[in-house]
Amino acid sequence: MPILPSHRPRRNRKSEVIRNMVQETNLAVQDFIYPVFLIEGQNQQIEIHSMPGIYRHSADRLIDEIGKCVELGIKSFAPFPGINDALKDRLARESANPEGLYLKTIADIKRQFPDVVLMTDVAMDPYSSDGHDGVVDPESGEILNDASLEVLGQMALAQARAGADIIGPSDMMDGRVAWIREVLDSNAFTNVSIMSYTAKYASAFYGPFRDALDSAPKKGDKKTYQMNPANRREALRELALDEQEGVDMVMIKPALSYLDVIREVRDHTQLPVTAYNVSGEYAMIKAAAQQGWLDGERTMMEVLLSIKRAGADAILTYFAKEAAQVLRRG
Ligand code: PBG
Repeated sequence: MPILPSHRPRRNRKSEVIRNMVQETNLAVQDFIYPVFLIEGQNQQIEIHSMPGIYRHSADRLIDEIGKCVELGIKSFAPFPGINDALKDRLARESANPEGLYLKTIADIKRQFPDVVLMTDVAMDPYSSDGHDGVVDPESGEILNDASLEVLGQMALAQARAGADIIGPSDMMDGRVAWIREVLDSNAFTNVSIMSYTAKYASAFYGPFRDALDSAPKKGDKKTYQMNPANRREALRELALDEQEGVDMVMIKPALSYLDVIREVRDHTQLPVTAYNVSGEYAMIKAAAQQGWLDGERTMMEVLLSIKRAGADAILTYFAKEAAQVLRRG
């Protein structure tokens, strides 16, 4: 006589209502932070070739776009600027110009939408003639950590003055969280938060983003500051340092190939954990969906859910708007 199973996990899957009742992880629109791309000009909305459905907007159009997102319930945005080549230099000076594209637009958005949360990016690459996140030594080509801190601190301060709610250092220089915290606090910006890119890996998945902003390094790669994709323990070292330095929220980037790192970090901190579902992760799903090889919508929701299940409280994702529409539909 064959033995019938005495445990039947399938009972908890027998109907949609029961499946929903025992569902462990849920996505909600407030989980999303929407990265958006800003360019010079007026009435410009240019699709990014490698990111179908994602655009570079001029400030006026970006403000319209944010308005539409707010109606869908998306309240947090991470703007990134595409800077004209003529304004780029070795020390990324344009990054602290309050009249420059980025800071002026940040201030405009906050004026129009005071409740919207803006997380600004701190790294030199969009403004650097070298296309690196830090200062490049012209002789050796080395990325100079401590000289970069000076620039990053000024950039963060200018962003706080423009009205940024959260400063997002994505540069991976050592000691930048403490440096930026000190600069902010000594200028009375004690209420401005820092969400650091705590474990940011030197990843091939950033390709479409660098195309979008024309921000790829002119020489070399980012491996002396971004982390080696092979390393998990090192993420915990970066976490411990960011915590000591006074970070408010930590981020893992990319997300999808690093779900184990998200979980590891989640298990080692009481701080909020976020994950950046990056440009290449978006492009991959879009490309396969366009070919009819994947159900784009279901894949998108599954990926976002997995990132949350891995331990992320919030997700930076180019899918924010589409996923918000799916969630609204129910
Ligand atoms: C740059 C920065 C990058 C991304 C966010 N900030 C690219 C890089 O480090 O080269 C990538 C985001 C994405 O791929 O979606 N400091």
